[in-house]
Amino acid sequence: KTPVWEARADLVVIGSGVAGLTAALRAQALGLHVLVVTKAAVADGNTRWAQGGVAVVLADQHDLGDSVAKHAEDTLTAGAGLCDEPAVRSIIDGGPAAVARLRADGAKFDVAASGLLALGREGGHSAFRVIHAGGDATGAEVERALVAQAGRAGVPVLEHHIAVDALLTPGGRVAGVTVLDRHGVPGAVRASAVLVASGGIGQLYQATSNPEIATGDGLALALRAGAAVADIEFVQFHPTVLYTPGARGRCPLVTEAVRGEGATLVDGAGLPVMRGVHPLGDLAPRDVVSAAITRRMATAPGGVDDHVFLDATGVEGFAQRFPTVFAACAALGLDPAVDPIPVTPAAHFSCGGVVTTVDGRSSVAGLYAAGEVARTGLHGANRLASNSLLEGLVVGQRVAEAVAADLAAGLLADPARGRLPSRTTAPAAERDSLQRVMSRYAAIGRDADGLAAAGSVLDLSLSDTPLWTHAGVEDAALTVVAQALLAAAVRRTESRGCHVRTDFPARDDGWRRSQLIRLSPSGQP
Ligand code: SIN
Repeated sequence: KTPVWEARADLVVIGSGVAGLTAALRAQALGLHVLVVTKAAVADGNTRWAQGGVAVVLADQHDLGDSVAKHAEDTLTAGAGLCDEPAVRSIIDGGPAAVARLRADGAKFDVAASGLLALGREGGHSAFRVIHAGGDATGAEVERALVAQAGRAGVPVLEHHIAVDALLTPGGRVAGVTVLDRHGVPGAVRASAVLVASGGIGQLYQATSNPEIATGDGLALALRAGAAVADIEFVQFHPTVLYTPGARGRCPLVTEAVRGEGATLVDGAGLPVMRGVHPLGDLAPRDVVSAAITRRMATAPGGVDDHVFLDATGVEGFAQRFPTVFAACAALGLDPAVDPIPVTPAAHFSCGGVVTTVDGRSSVAGLYAAGEVARTGLHGANRLASNSLLEGLVVGQRVAEAVAADLAAGLLADPARGRLPSRTTAPAAERDSLQRVMSRYAAIGRDADGLAAAGSVLDLSLSDTPLWTHAGVEDAALTVVAQALLAAAVRRTESRGCHVRTDFPARDDGWRRSQLIRLSPSGQP
């Protein structure tokens, strides 16, 4: 449909989570005309569901023997040989200043009896270095503070608007986006720079810690604009979401910080799941723990089981330290002080995404990405816990500065030259069947036959879907992202980090590299 409304900006930011709002605030402070486009209410993104916290080593933590270098080493180890080391060091170095800015903007973190910030510990961390808020409600506090600051700063936000396609100049530079408003009325925002900060892809799977909005729209938009993506075969499954029989959609998270306080994973017979699996035991990196739980479930006495238990009965003051988890358990009639918590792994985080520099520049002029949708090289094959809010804060700030610099250097397009995309429909699979095949064949434990079967089922269920409803845009995005993910997963004939191939169980050093994926002119990865 032809756009019936038009808006202008220097920078249009797609998404209003930690990366998007941090970037919008900084860009506005730099004098840019910013417009945020977000497909639900401003605070409804993935950020607000983050529990554990922000991994960071502040100056006073050095007295406890921790260091920024150790944080970087833990990140590289968790990333299973696929991190970009300079990117890791750069982003982690930027953490303390980013957290200081966020606190200056009003975010309140929990304070210990010493008067210093309270520190938690999660899988893969060699030290207590995760700052948190409201016990286990860190994302909610980060989002609250950023939304409040954006309100005070007067950052314009179009809520319930979904971005569809990039406007491209004849030379292939991005010059804005088409957008559907809350009623599905199409419009265009012309802008020299587009920042995709739209979060993740959890809705590719039946069970996920992510909310309904995590449908990969920004990743799909970037692919269609010609951007390279990488590492998208590495979908991180969080080891512990709260188990309910036949759970679908967003499942409540049970933060890893619970294990940081001493809780242990046990199977239905009460036997420890992590004993003998990894030197860090229950605090092994997340990919290791999720894979171990999956193996234990598959070999459970009496056949395939679908959950294990987190024994947190020894964690003192559970209700105060983890109020969100406590409330979710209480809703099921469970008291973690006496009842083992039933848990299971679920899709949680996309370690890969749009390939960017550490300041958010993608391979396409005018297109930037930050937060979960981006692949800076920080996460490699498996993200270290609580590095994601950190990345959103650090790169969110830097990307605004990169846009301002690129504008000043005349590197970006005149928005008037952006051509409206011609497509009005796109191939899309039916969502339930897409989620079913991805959960069955492209979760933890994949093989060539299953991945091929998933590709065929997807192909067979494709139909041309009009791009004039939010659901249509999401379904088309989920489909192209699933196709790209399957293509990457088929090609990577090894097991590494979150990518577990049962037909190639070993790590292969020949695969110590990222795969770049682009769409062909016919839209195939
Ligand atoms: C958690 O609290 O376990 C999740 C934090 C994260 O994904 O980094």
